[in-house]
Amino acid sequence: MAQYSNVYQPSLEELKLGYALQGKWKSKVFKNSNPIVLELGCGKGEYSVGMAQKYPDKNFLGIDIKGARMWQGSTKALNLDLSNVAFLRTRIEFLEYCFTINEVDEIWITFPDPHLKKKRAKNRLTHPIFLQRFSRFLNKEGSIHLKTDSQFLHGYTLGIIEGCQHILEDAEHDIYNAQLYRPNLEIKTHYEKLFLKQSSPITYLRFKLKPKNQF
Ligand SMILES: C[S@@+](CC[C@H](N)C(=O)[O-])C[C@H]1O[C@@H](n2cnc3c(N)ncnc32)[C@H](O)[C@@H]1O
Repeated sequence: MAQYSNVYQPSLEELKLGYALQGKWKSKVFKNSNPIVLELGCGKGEYSVGMAQKYPDKNFLGIDIKGARMWQGSTKALNLDLSNVAFLRTRIEFLEYCFTINEVDEIWITFPDPHLKKKRAKNRLTHPIFLQRFSRFLNKEGSIHLKTDSQFLHGYTLGIIEGCQHILEDAEHDIYNAQLYRPNLEIKTHYEKLFLKQSSPITYLRFKLKPKNQF
């Protein structure tokens, strides 16, 4: 992937010294001024690539630490000649070094590990520590979308939204048996397909973070 034009793999040292792309993703990477949408823990990147095909006037950036999975999405994006999708290989904990204030317009979290054990709670991507990190670079109008098979993580995140006074915009506990049709939920990731084979209901949340000065 080192040769790929759509993959960025900064080291932590590079990030801490001041990453060259921080604040410059639109101008230097995507070469437009369109909104930036992140997919956190993108795995093979099905969501990022699928959404990029659907929304040519938005930029998508898949983020994951695992290169072998990311290779699949980045290869597909190159083969499809998609210029509005790229991949950033780093830890989600380091994203504050990658983006500047308001640089990101939307976040998707697709089938993250729910970290069921209490001592692992701080690793949940919707834990208040992560949400505070996201608030540093997510535009105030930007929504966070969580798609998961985990009833636990769905309920946990609803509790965090209510308890921390974030703004719930949409909630569905079984998207494929819902009355409301949500077209952006149609794309199925690798993990989603595995969970659907086990007949697990797939849940969805969309919320906005409370204003930055209230954190
Ligand atoms: C359960 S998989 C889901 C992958 C993909 N979204 C899907 O639905 O098929 C979770 C992904 O999140 C990534 N991940 C977990 N914690 C991470 C972190 N702190 N930083 C970067 N990636 C992380 C893992 O490498 C893995 O690819």
